[in-house]
Amino acid sequence: MTTTVPDESTAIDLTTQVDELAGRLLEAGVGALELFTIAIGDALGLYRAVGESPSSTAAELAERLSLDLRYVTEWCDQQAIAGLLLASSDPRRFTLAPGVTEVLVDPLSPAYLAPVARFPGCVGDVLPALIDGFRTGAGVPYADYGPAAVAAQAAINRPSFVHALAQEWVPAIPGLEARLQDTSRPAVVADIGCGAGWATIALAAAYPAISAYGFDADAASIEQARANAAEAGAGDRLRFELVDGAPPVDGIDVAFFFECLHDMAHPTDVLRQLRASLADDGCVIVMDERAADDFTAPGDLIERYLASSSVTWCLPQSRTDADSEALGTLLRPATMTRIAADAGYASCEIVAIEHPVWRFYRLER
Ligand SMILES: C[S@@+](CC[C@H](N)C(=O)[O-])C[C@H]1O[C@@H](n2cnc3c(N)ncnc32)[C@H](O)[C@@H]1O
Repeated sequence: MTTTVPDESTAIDLTTQVDELAGRLLEAGVGALELFTIAIGDALGLYRAVGESPSSTAAELAERLSLDLRYVTEWCDQQAIAGLLLASSDPRRFTLAPGVTEVLVDPLSPAYLAPVARFPGCVGDVLPALIDGFRTGAGVPYADYGPAAVAAQAAINRPSFVHALAQEWVPAIPGLEARLQDTSRPAVVADIGCGAGWATIALAAAYPAISAYGFDADAASIEQARANAAEAGAGDRLRFELVDGAPPVDGIDVAFFFECLHDMAHPTDVLRQLRASLADDGCVIVMDERAADDFTAPGDLIERYLASSSVTWCLPQSRTDADSEALGTLLRPATMTRIAADAGYASCEIVAIEHPVWRFYRLER
């Protein structure tokens, strides 16, 4: 779809368009401020506390969490006004609105989206550097977005890794499940750009025969991954190493890139170097954003989410090297096919997994 640029002969109702745009910006502004109040409630455990003790007053919540009463009173009222808490009167008591547990409290719920509320604060922290980057072309390192960024990034994909990776995605990729289950030839699996390790941990739990490695260029992510693995009791079949780009391991049977290839400064080089480390029948699975096939403007909600993430998050993080490939978040199938071919792979196929956000590719050596 393309946008029609109006010329003088096109009758447009400017007043309606101005009103609509003004309304959209106002709604977005309110939404942004409400996201910060969600981030506050999430960080302080307020939603969890209300969920554990429905019909609490603000004073009871403030006392239980050792928080300032005046702030908590204002937050509770605001959350009720925003429709996230239900309020009764005389005295005012608060209960979670339907859906809040699933979306904001339970970190393993498939609907969990609390991390979305943390992203704007992380971008706010780097905004001056980002604006400067537009002038100079400089990138903004992931580490500068702060530890909250790593935690939010990890938390948003975790439910899918727990509920869908081994249950739906791996079985949908021809031959992959059998390879991971093969006890006669235990597979060496690499999760490249593993973040806090939730996918690696889920793979190791689902496929006891494999040796799983997680690699990431970000020290805070590897630290969190090791802690998560220890807590999950994953044992020594699982190792996390701080590595920038292709891993220094030979004979990799399956390499995964979960939502990270487009974040890399040199994705083609990483794929090329990885290819040399793959077993003869090894393969690469890339899970990346389901961007539209072609530039589409205006875009739908997902495309808008990806495009705005690209400007504020992924593109600057990938531009820390002056000669970065700078793919951006909107990794389109044609780009993926091109970089796989440039890296020397024999094929790059889209896997038949229908998902609103992800597209899966299988690269054969
Ligand atoms: C969007 S996060 C995804 C993390 C994880 N795979 C997940 O789905 O939760 C992207 C990750 O790619 C990592 N990354 C970016 N460039 C990298 C590189 N050159 N080598 C290794 N990891 C890299 C980042 O540090 C970050 O942890």
